[in-house]
Amino acid sequence: MTTADLDTQIKACAADIEAFLDNRLRSDTLPSRLLAAMRHGALDGGKRLRPFLVRASAALFGVLPEQSLAAGGALEMIHCYSLVHDDLPDMDNDELRRGKPTVWKAFDPALAILAGDALLTEAFVLLSDPQTHPDPSIRSELIAALSLGARQMVEGQVLDIEGETTPLDEDGIFKMQALKTGALIRTAAEMGAILGHADIEQRAELLRYGVSAGLAFQIADDILDVTASSDALGKTAGKDVAQNKSTIVALRGLETAHQILDHAVAGGLDALKGFGPKADTLRALIRHFAARES
Ligand code: IPE
Ligand code: IPE
Ligand code: MG
Ligand code: MG
Ligand code: MG
Repeated sequence: MTTADLDTQIKACAADIEAFLDNRLRSDTLPSRLLAAMRHGALDGGKRLRPFLVRASAALFGVLPEQSLAAGGALEMIHCYSLVHDDLPDMDNDELRRGKPTVWKAFDPALAILAGDALLTEAFVLLSDPQTHPDPSIRSELIAALSLGARQMVEGQVLDIEGETTPLDEDGIFKMQALKTGALIRTAAEMGAILGHADIEQRAELLRYGVSAGLAFQIADDILDVTASSDALGKTAGKDVAQNKSTIVALRGLETAHQILDHAVAGGLDALKGFGPKADTLRALIRHFAARES
């Protein structure tokens, strides 16, 4: 798979997710400012890489894109909620996200908290919907996986905030990253396995891939925070140093961070050994997680 092919597939998935969320986040009954804030946080932007991972993981088992779209959409709602809250003044205090003002800037912090809460909850309304999957046991497994991932993301965010005042050591940083970012990325791979009725070994290998992909994703994020421009990122660059964040880049420097990144990619590729050529999209994807420029 060439990087151009991967790019085309990611863009197609992003367009599907945008349309899906746009359609889903409509209501005549929600307070209009709440709905507007939810839509601001969820629509028009975002690489949509987690839903793409759900799609690519499910595709290993012959699941069609439209059959994994709702599960990917639910995961993306959780991700968007995590970003809306991550940007709050009492968290990372960011004013720019996806090239736009953050939700709390465009509205106010109270509404940003509530819009995040509503996106979080709506994700599970969606996963419980029979239209998401006709089999109730699959729906319940998806709910179990996503709720655990979301809770672990919150655990990681707590460690991240604490790490601003009490610097984390290397193991502490890995643990924090595996939770705050790794959990939802691992969940993406796992949701694909659930949709595909993967057997226990396949599911374990996809989880192992997801853990490596999550690590690669956050280390790349930390590297980009110091090497990329705010324009390229659509969010304010240089924030980690400014806020005294505990990152591998801060602790060990860029060169070591790149080595750990390469190691994470190798770990992810190793987990895919048993899947043969049909896992080429996932192979290209973890390389993309590491090499991305935004
Ligand atoms: C940003 O995630 C937050 C991290 C976990 C590093 P993304 O880089 O996937 O952000 P969007 O969704 O594309 O805006
Ligand atoms: C985000 O980590 C992890 C989340 C759960 C949102 P960061 O705080 O590094 O993400 P950015 O850099 O603001 O996107
Ligand atoms: Mg943060
Ligand atoms: Mg942040
Ligand atoms: Mg960051």
